[in-house]
Amino acid sequence: MTALSKSDLWQKMQEYYHNIGPEAWQNEVVPLQISSNKNLAFAYANVIIAQILDWQIANPGKDFKEPFYIIEVGTGHGKFSYYVLKCLHELLPNFDLPISCVKFIMTDIAQKNVESWQRHPAFQEFFKNGLLDVALFNAMADIEIKLLISEITIRQNALSKPVFMLCNYLFDSLSHDAFQVRDKKLYEVQIKINSDADWEEYFAKAKFDFTYNPVSTSYYSDTALNQVLANYEQTLPNSTFTIPVGGIECINTVKKFTGQHLVLLLADKGHANIDLFDDVSEPDISVHGSISLMVNFDALRHYFSLTSGTAHMMSNTAAEFQVACYITKGNYDMQHTKHAFYQSFVGACPQDLISLCYIDDEINCDFKNIDQLLGLLNLVLWDPNIVYDMHDTLIELIENGELTVEQDLIIIRGAQLAWEYYFKLEKNQDLPFALGSIYYAIDEFELALEFFELSVQEYGPNSENLYNIAITHQALDNLVAAKNFAKRTLEVDAKYMPAKELLAELA
Ligand SMILES: C[S@@+](CC[C@H](N)C(=O)[O-])C[C@H]1O[C@@H](n2cnc3c(N)ncnc32)[C@H](O)[C@@H]1O
Repeated sequence: MTALSKSDLWQKMQEYYHNIGPEAWQNEVVPLQISSNKNLAFAYANVIIAQILDWQIANPGKDFKEPFYIIEVGTGHGKFSYYVLKCLHELLPNFDLPISCVKFIMTDIAQKNVESWQRHPAFQEFFKNGLLDVALFNAMADIEIKLLISEITIRQNALSKPVFMLCNYLFDSLSHDAFQVRDKKLYEVQIKINSDADWEEYFAKAKFDFTYNPVSTSYYSDTALNQVLANYEQTLPNSTFTIPVGGIECINTVKKFTGQHLVLLLADKGHANIDLFDDVSEPDISVHGSISLMVNFDALRHYFSLTSGTAHMMSNTAAEFQVACYITKGNYDMQHTKHAFYQSFVGACPQDLISLCYIDDEINCDFKNIDQLLGLLNLVLWDPNIVYDMHDTLIELIENGELTVEQDLIIIRGAQLAWEYYFKLEKNQDLPFALGSIYYAIDEFELALEFFELSVQEYGPNSENLYNIAITHQALDNLVAAKNFAKRTLEVDAKYMPAKELLAELA
């Protein structure tokens, strides 16, 4: 039996992510939409810019020779980093701020993830102009970050500006301790893990046993954490709660990189409301390839306020997916930062958008008319994944009625937006094909052709993209090309009926 944070779980978790690499995000082995979407990226970019404005007001005349470092920890696939970079690119000029005033650092524990970013075409321009760097970084062990592109090492006190740390779906994978309060007494939850499977099956086959030991509230060497425990011991009804010690360790490491404060943007499954803590049941360890625990956002809020920092939390504290902005003790007013955070999270939260788009993990196809769907797509900023998931429904609604000029223009602009943020990741999500099909449905045949050809280029030729090139050529009166592509379709799939019918029609 051992404390949860000292158990093998975390080592095994690191082994899991190290081995699986970017494959974790194929076939939804690990979910990504709720933590990696355009809305969240715009919200983060707005908070980052607001913090830079707060700094500018407090430091008139100081320059941007040293950029603001934005360090993403547990980056994973990289789609979210790309979105944040794109958003910053879009928004910084609105404030006459040069894009070079920020430097984005993608980090992860898994070598395969880092290598995939280094190869990814979407990042090459950002590497070239020095806005982006990458590093291997273990959030629970490393105390410096060795950047692989610039070969600079970020060590203690290396930076003189406030540092940003972005962590989406990371803290739920870093070590936690678990405690119970029973009749105003504190108990440490200890765990024993039984599993002899290898990394792939380790968690699926694991059996967990728990015991409960009485402990004092001087449990940690960190007095602020002990105060959090003391507060819970006194105020909670009988409950089980966790402390994200691995996450806190990482915060303290990254904080030391700068002589200034740290701004943490944290998004994760978690509890921001103590009414949602479990009763005196076993800690809730969910198994899904790897494992994850609910992050105690409330404990982090206490921890930051006890160390003279600030916590901005989503107004919907009941949502299971929480976003928060935690700031360590700073030396200037941060009104813009606070405003930017609350402007983004006072109303709908990421979980609300997901609930509008998906019903029980299935795509929502239930729209009374096309304006409802266009409204939703506008709300999610034509996020590429959602556009992909909804393209069939959109095409059906286009085909079932007459589009107004306004609707036509919204769709053309929306498809453009989706394409601007295209980041190739999921092998089964051929966004160019989806966009080609939307353009075809609204009779934009030149654009449709361009995107069906992109589908061939990005995802390889298949009967669907080749046949669609054929019918688009037919719509453009390029009958020889239409015939050629119908023939090419049959070379790929000799039984593809629509191509046979098209050839017969063209003959
Ligand atoms: C659930 S994924 C989240 C990925 C991405 N941020 C997202 O929101 O989709 C967790 C990521 O954290 C990384 N990770 C796990 N343990 C880590 C550690 N100790 N230090 C740094 N990264 C870690 C994994 O490799 C993985 O990429």
